[in-house]
Amino acid sequence: MKFNLPLLLIPPIALLGSARAADAVREITLPAETEIYQASDLPGYALINAMCLTCHSVEYVKYQPPASPRAYWQATVVKMQKIFAAPIPDEVIEPIVDYLVKTYGNERPADAKAEAHRAIAPAGR
Ligand code: HEC
Repeated sequence: MKFNLPLLLIPPIALLGSARAADAVREITLPAETEIYQASDLPGYALINAMCLTCHSVEYVKYQPPASPRAYWQATVVKMQKIFAAPIPDEVIEPIVDYLVKTYGNERPADAKAEAHRAIAPAGR
């Protein structure tokens, strides 16, 4: 078998180049988070802050349909855990779902529901 020497030299040279690039320290500044989970006395509030901000911001929760029932939030949190591999222990699912449905779903107090409707309804309705 014949080897082409210049071709064999390419990988080590390429490696040297990438090692040098990795030596350069780069800093990035992420924009400050502007949205936060709505404060609550429910036990799920602390849990959601601990477990639901690692992959995405609050917006995904905020923009779910306001009439979403408990079963919807349950399925969503289980999807985060099982499909997206979020490290959420089984025992915290119930309090997190409870917080979600009472804060962003159809178990919110009536005045909060009216406010959410005003926020998404076209002007004048
Ligand atoms: C391991 C990463 C991860 C964690 C932790 C996580 N999520 Fe998600 N979440 C995702 C991904 C990925 C999507 C889908 C994004 C897409 O489709 O663009 C998503 C989407 C969502 C959506 C949008 C609706 C949907 O079903 O896609 C909601 C609501 C949501 N997450 C809520 C939560 C809540 C509540 C928690 C905490 C219990 C949580 N997430 C924790 C990864 C995560």
